[in-house]
Amino acid sequence: MTDYLILGADVLGNGPTDLVLRDGVIASLGADTAAPRDGVELVTIDATGLVALPGLVDLHTHVREPGREDAETVLTGSQAAARGGFTCVHAMANTEPVADTAGVVEQVWRLGREGGYCDVQPVGAVTVGLQGTQLAELGAMADSAAGVKVFSDDGKCVSDAVVMRRALEYVKAFDGVIAQHAQEPRLTEGAQMNEGPLSGELGLTGWPAVAEEAIIARDVLLAEHVGSRLHVCHLSTRGSVEIIRWAKSRGIDVTAEVTPHHLLLNDDLVRSYDPIYKVNPPLRSADDVEAVREGLADGTIDIVATDHAPHPMEDKECEWSAAAFGMLGLETALSVVQQTMVDTGRLTWEQVARAMSSKPAEIGRVANQGRPIAVGEPANIVLVDPSATRTIDPRDTASLSRNNPYAGLTLPGEVVATFLRGRATVRDRALVTPLVEGQVTA
Ligand code: DOR
Ligand code: ZN
Ligand code: ZN
Repeated sequence: MTDYLILGADVLGNGPTDLVLRDGVIASLGADTAAPRDGVELVTIDATGLVALPGLVDLHTHVREPGREDAETVLTGSQAAARGGFTCVHAMANTEPVADTAGVVEQVWRLGREGGYCDVQPVGAVTVGLQGTQLAELGAMADSAAGVKVFSDDGKCVSDAVVMRRALEYVKAFDGVIAQHAQEPRLTEGAQMNEGPLSGELGLTGWPAVAEEAIIARDVLLAEHVGSRLHVCHLSTRGSVEIIRWAKSRGIDVTAEVTPHHLLLNDDLVRSYDPIYKVNPPLRSADDVEAVREGLADGTIDIVATDHAPHPMEDKECEWSAAAFGMLGLETALSVVQQTMVDTGRLTWEQVARAMSSKPAEIGRVANQGRPIAVGEPANIVLVDPSATRTIDPRDTASLSRNNPYAGLTLPGEVVATFLRGRATVRDRALVTPLVEGQVTA
């Protein structure tokens, strides 16, 4: 057991404070000294210049276990998460087999707890096998040890309006939420990149903004009609932001996320034909990037979620049309948000804590994550050095995959330490081996 005395951390960017982490909770806050306890190591950390945030919570991570453990396991995904400052991630359901039963979600949940780097909260599939036709056993997954609250067919859209309606109705009983991957399938058949002048120029089939916006418009109306909760995954266009803004002004219970890559990168990168930039939804225009930044700044977009999508080399290093969709995100998310939103004056650190910790925990109904930094709260904390810069090297990762779209870019900010219930998972930028291997902590 170790107690931590963290000196002079800039909590939420509101000024330096000392923190004591003890017995899994924040034991004291404010100028304080921790009296050493018999048999307990006391580690002092000089956190001058470091920002302390609540442990980050990702509502949208792909780990590839079960099924594609060559690309990512629950353990390696958890380690990448810890290195990115996360203490909780939601693991999407598009595994092999699909996480559409209590058995699979319990397995993923347990692997996360046994790894001990990060709480892994499984997302359940909405439909059996992500096939879009028959509702999965949503209630059984909710009642399982994993306590699933978020359901998504992510990777695929629940495109049938009746199935979507039934799913929204069903989850009301246990306060669940449907997280929609908004992609009208007929409008995106064979789509390879954002539809616009550039897709014509490059000769790649376009993914029109309307394919996303039409589903979001339909779904906010369905959510209103049945009085249920809707979450929109990885919103990426100006029109999508406008629809969410309108829905919220009407009082519809909808939340939305944006990914770091849609905050930073635009479709001009596709000129390289490098599949590292191939992602779904696609990188959009510079104007869309501006719109999602504005939407996040004004609260229309509630959260940042990574859509961390590991793929093995052979699925990405091939010709564009054959490559898999997706990019890594856990280890770079906070840096991208700092660059695009904090260093530009659009968000304070306190607002970052809301968008990347408390709000995603609230949407996912994870009671013990995303809590305030206050005495008695679980000691889930990340210490960030905002003055550091680093040049991104895809090999410097805990992930089993290397599909990092930021390779070679210099990004601000570095996670110095992450604490999960008072135990360091990362210190001085390196992973820390759990004290008790395979310990089930909660
Ligand atoms: O780019 C993506 N990758 N978008 C998705 O919706 C799925 C994800 C994946 O699983 O690789
Ligand atoms: Zn998706
Ligand atoms: Zn996804």
